[in-house]
Amino acid sequence: ELAPNGYLRPDGAPVTVIAHRGASSAAPENTLVAQEVARRAGADWIENDVQPSRDGVPFVLHDGTVDRTTDGAGAIRSLTAAQLKALDAGSWFAPHYTGVRLPTLAEQLADLRTRGGNLLLEIKGAHSRDEVAKIVEVIRAEQMTGRVFIQSFEVDALKHTYALAPELPLGLLRGSLDADPVAIAKELHLTAYNPTGAALIAKPEVVDGLHKAGVAVMAWTIDSAAQWRQLEQIGVDGIITNRPAELAGWNAAF
Ligand code: G3P
Ligand code: CA
Repeated sequence: ELAPNGYLRPDGAPVTVIAHRGASSAAPENTLVAQEVARRAGADWIENDVQPSRDGVPFVLHDGTVDRTTDGAGAIRSLTAAQLKALDAGSWFAPHYTGVRLPTLAEQLADLRTRGGNLLLEIKGAHSRDEVAKIVEVIRAEQMTGRVFIQSFEVDALKHTYALAPELPLGLLRGSLDADPVAIAKELHLTAYNPTGAALIAKPEVVDGLHKAGVAVMAWTIDSAAQWRQLEQIGVDGIITNRPAELAGWNAAF
């Protein structure tokens, strides 16, 4: 049996507000400015994505290439940290964000440690054991072990994380529900099971089953108040949203 965990939402408590890629509807995603906007909006956690540069430095970036969210081009894994740092990661979003840089994971964690906030860190794409070890090393060096929750679609990345750092809570991202979510939660030592909001709304009894096994549930990526309400009623513990200000305000109002 899994022990009940501290991420389960007590009865009547508001859902945890998790800002998807930072406040990504208001600022360039996965940057420190998006993180600051999310913090000021009242987000409990920031969600972001981590991948390594060519020289092995974990950077915060969603896509496999820098093409969409910077003024550069190419796969992140083909560019060095110095090359990534030279890119503009703000002007694609709006001219007044020109000069915003891609953050390293270390910079993002330092910002959270000094200014506040917790991180739902998605290990994006397949990672070797050594690449996961580098992420763990950065989290430990920044003394953020107690404020980082790891999630991934990649089962192997979660297994590497558990082997290297069993103290880090783990969530499995899913696009659709497993036949037996509790079984996979036990197998992977999950603290949370994180499917789409739509999948949960279609099969809400899954949440009770996971809760009885001591597993929290976080739903992604939900931006409508009607669905926030449904997910709260189903009992999910956290909601990942592009609109953290509105969800935090909605939480306060209801
Ligand atoms: O946190 C869940 C969500 O971020 C997964 O999708 O593509 O935005 O990383 P994606
Ligand atoms: Ca993500």
